[in-house]
Amino acid sequence: MKWLSALFLLMLTGTGGAELLPPARSYKILMLLPIGSKSHRNVFMPLVEALAERGHKVDMLTSYDIQHPNPNITEIRHGLPHFPRASINMFNDANTAFGIVLTFKDQLTKMARDIYRVPQVKELYRKRKEYDLIVLNQHYNEFMYPFVHEMPFITITTPGMDPRQSAALGNVPSPAYVPTLFYEANCEHVLGRLANAIAGIVKPFYWRNWEVIPAVQKEINIHFPDLPPLLDLERNLSLVLLNSHFSTDLTVPLLPSQVEVGGMHCRPAKPLPEDLRSWIEGAGSAGVIYFSLGSITRGNTLPTKYRNMFIEAFSKLNQRILWKFETDLEGIPENIMISPWLPQQDILGHPNVRVFISHGGRLSLQETLYHGTPMVTLPLFGDQPTNGARVVANGWGLSLKYEDLSVDLIISSLEEVMKNTKYVENVVKTSRLYRDQVTSPVEQAVFWTEYVIRHRGAPKLRSPAVSLSWVQLLLLDVLALFLLVIILSLLILWWIFKKVLSAAFGEKYLKKKSE
Ligand SMILES: *[C@@H]1O[C@H](CO)[C@@H](O)[C@H](O)[C@H]1NC(C)=O
Ligand SMILES: *[C@@H]1O[C@H](CO)[C@@H](O)[C@H](O)[C@H]1NC(C)=O
Repeated sequence: MKWLSALFLLMLTGTGGAELLPPARSYKILMLLPIGSKSHRNVFMPLVEALAERGHKVDMLTSYDIQHPNPNITEIRHGLPHFPRASINMFNDANTAFGIVLTFKDQLTKMARDIYRVPQVKELYRKRKEYDLIVLNQHYNEFMYPFVHEMPFITITTPGMDPRQSAALGNVPSPAYVPTLFYEANCEHVLGRLANAIAGIVKPFYWRNWEVIPAVQKEINIHFPDLPPLLDLERNLSLVLLNSHFSTDLTVPLLPSQVEVGGMHCRPAKPLPEDLRSWIEGAGSAGVIYFSLGSITRGNTLPTKYRNMFIEAFSKLNQRILWKFETDLEGIPENIMISPWLPQQDILGHPNVRVFISHGGRLSLQETLYHGTPMVTLPLFGDQPTNGARVVANGWGLSLKYEDLSVDLIISSLEEVMKNTKYVENVVKTSRLYRDQVTSPVEQAVFWTEYVIRHRGAPKLRSPAVSLSWVQLLLLDVLALFLLVIILSLLILWWIFKKVLSAAFGEKYLKKKSE
């Protein structure tokens, strides 16, 4: 047993250099992320690649036509057109949260209807029990739960802690300080907490019990009439890998089955291609502003009015600007360089890059914090507004609203973030905290993924709260019993009181009193 204690020591004393032991054998792992933007796939890939390098075989069901160079990774594309991400224009599309939920209901129901008719998916479903583990993208993929019936499975939560899913594991976060996903509430104020508590009940109820999941369930029942309900299948979830970390996100109580692996994709900067390097370094002491609105908000969807504001503002700055923009722009000032693709992390890691104008997507935010670059965010949808608010609250930079934009505001915001050193100081402080971990987030994720396989679903991780009903979980039965005891005691006391009175003063006294 000497090797066993050696193994434990190795895990306990890892200081970033600790290596995971080689796996006992090569596992077969199925990853299901049939919907989700490219950034969801980007959250998965570092783990997928690490598992493949350790000799495991990973099959992935995705909506992207990509073939990974590693032969241990097979991407299977379902080819359904229900989430045509490339044609989405977030500046036009229903910007309201409610509008997005309604389109989701429609698209998810269609996915549930059609995906089990796709031959590749049918084939995967038929042989699903050959896998050692199924890994699901948590967000919007409830229609994939038939796959996990009688299988050990884990999920990856790309936007970090999701109170709704946390509750499914038996950890109901307190609405007093844990914000509902994609919802900004000022929890210091009683009305803010009220709104947060209501949102925390209404949103999951609407999604799970009222509108979205029931519609998806109907379609699933047609394909799989004998399966338990989707939400019952979900209760067997072994573990969640959260794309968050307390150093960069909210500090919340977590179960052993909720493991924070935020920023798996963050990595040290690599040397830049020669043209980029010389251009960035040629900016001299004025430095460079890096501008990218992420993978969904493409250049051609950015309204011309805003585009022209940025061009005018940039022309008045001493800095050079690196702008990720998908189409050509005629007649732009000399200090702007445009490119449809830029190596973001290598740019953020360059010391001459002074500020990042970003859409405030979670992955970009994590990279920015990892590399210690202050930012100006321009949130548009999803978790971006909440992320923008976090940027301001933590002093990592500023956040602007599109409707407020003007040339002067762009210039003054950029100058404030570059001149006031508090932003860079705050970002560097967070970066140090984030990097100070026992092992890298990817190693954490690999360890826990293999752990669930080694221990066949690791049932010991499960909180006993999962098997309680909500009445039991909220102690309502105890409360009811407590009330009953109090009421009974009061009745008995009253009865004794009456007896004592009548014994002392006789029946007549009581009668007289009541007349
Ligand atoms: C693929 O897996 C095998 C073992 O199954 C391993 O020997 C090999 O190194 C892996 N290949 C890559 C490129 O990671
Ligand atoms: C629950 O998970 C375990 C393994 O983690 C599996 O053996 C069992 O069949 C699952 N139960 C259901 C109902 O899916």
